[in-house]
Amino acid sequence: MSSSKTVLVTGGAGFIGSNYCRYVLKNHPDYRVVALDALTYAGNLSTMADMQNNPETAPRFKFYPGKIQDETVVNGIIKAEKIDFIVNFAAESHNDRSILDPGSFIQTDVYGVFTLLDAVRRHGVERMCHISTDEVYGTIDDGQFTESSPIEPNTPYSASKAGGELQVRAHRITYGTPTVITRCGNNFGPFQYPEKLIPFFVSRLIDYKKVPLYGSGQQVRDWVYVMDHCSGIDHVLHYGVTGEAYNIGSDCEKPNIDITHRLLKLLDRPESLIKQIGDPRGGAHDKRYSIDASKLKSIGWKPAYNFEEALESTVRWYLDNQSWWRDITATSDYQQFVASFYGKYLGEDL
Ligand SMILES: NC(=O)c1ccc[n+]([C@@H]2O[C@H](COP(=O)([O-])OP(=O)(O)OC[C@H]3O[C@@H](n4cnc5c(N)ncnc54)[C@H](O)[C@@H]3O)[C@@H](O)[C@H]2O)c1
Repeated sequence: MSSSKTVLVTGGAGFIGSNYCRYVLKNHPDYRVVALDALTYAGNLSTMADMQNNPETAPRFKFYPGKIQDETVVNGIIKAEKIDFIVNFAAESHNDRSILDPGSFIQTDVYGVFTLLDAVRRHGVERMCHISTDEVYGTIDDGQFTESSPIEPNTPYSASKAGGELQVRAHRITYGTPTVITRCGNNFGPFQYPEKLIPFFVSRLIDYKKVPLYGSGQQVRDWVYVMDHCSGIDHVLHYGVTGEAYNIGSDCEKPNIDITHRLLKLLDRPESLIKQIGDPRGGAHDKRYSIDASKLKSIGWKPAYNFEEALESTVRWYLDNQSWWRDITATSDYQQFVASFYGKYLGEDL
C-alpha cells in the first residue's frame, strides 16, 4: 500500500484484533498501529507482548488501555495519534456468556460502536472498518447468505452485533460517515481465548480431559483461519466500497463433531474423551451458518490457507505456547465460567 497511515485497532489485545495488528505490521511496513483494549477477561497484555518486545515492530506499535464506549479516551487517542483508519474488533464476543450477561454485550457491541462512529465524524477519520459476524444472519438450512440477506440474529450476542451494524448503517446514511463492514465465519488460530470450541477442546485434550460437545455436534460452522480473516479485513479496509458490507468466508463448512474428531486425531487422544451434553443455548443454538464470499472475491481477495494445514499448525501453537493459555485457564474467571456452563455434566473431570 502507498502512503503511511496510522491504524487504530480496537480490541487489539484479543484474538483476531492482535492477529490483525501483526498482519498490518508485517504487510504495511510504513504503517503505525495503535491498539486500544479494555483488557476484559478476553484481552491480555501477553497477547501483544511479541509486538511490543520485537525491536522491528515496537517503534510502530503502541497500546492504550481503555473502553471504546469512553468518548474521552477514544477522542483523545484519535487526536493525539492522528488516526487515519479505525478497525473495530472490540466486542463481547462469546455466545455462551451472552446468555449469562446480555447487558454488557449491548454496552460494548452497540453503544461502543456508536462512540467510535461519533468520533470518526468529529475528527474526519478517513475510514472505519467495523468487524461484524456471519451470526447476524441467523441460521440457514440450505444455501448461503449473501450480504443482502435479512439480518435475523438469534442470540443476545448476535443481536448486539446486529445492533452495532445498524448504528454503522445509520451513521453512514445520516451523516455520510465513511464506513465498511465485514461479516466472517468462525475463526481459529493462535491466541484464541480457550473458551471457544477449538482452543477449549485442544487445551483440555492436551491434559487428557473430556471435551463437552453440545448435543450430537451436528452444528455446522464455516471455519476461517484467522490470517485469512485478517487479509480479508485489510482488503475491505483498502479496496471496499464505502457503505458496503462484505462476507469473508473460506467455503469450509464442518460440523462440530468433525472438528472434534480431527482434534482427537491430531493430538492422538481416544474417542472416549468426547462427552456429549445437553445444549445450554437451547433453541438459540443456530444449526448452520454459511456465507457466500463472492462479493469480496470479485474485488480481488481470496483465502490463502489450507484448512487441514492451518488446523494442524494451530494445534501445534497451543502445544508450544502452553504458558499463554495456562495463565488464562488458571484464572478464577475462567474456572467460574467453565463450572457454570459445564460443571453439572463433567463433575470431577473439571
Ligand atoms: N472469533 C470469531 O470466530 C469471530 C468471527 C467473526 C467475527 N468476530 C468478531 O471479531 C471481533 C473480535 O473477536 P475475537 O474472537 O477476537 O474476540 P475476543 O473476545 O478474543 O477479543 C475481544 C477484545 O475486545 C476487548 N474488549 C471487550 N470490550 C471492550 C470495550 N468495551 N472496549 C475496548 N475493548 C474491549 C477485549 O478485552 C478483547 O481483547 C468481535 O467483534 C467479534 O464479534 C469473531
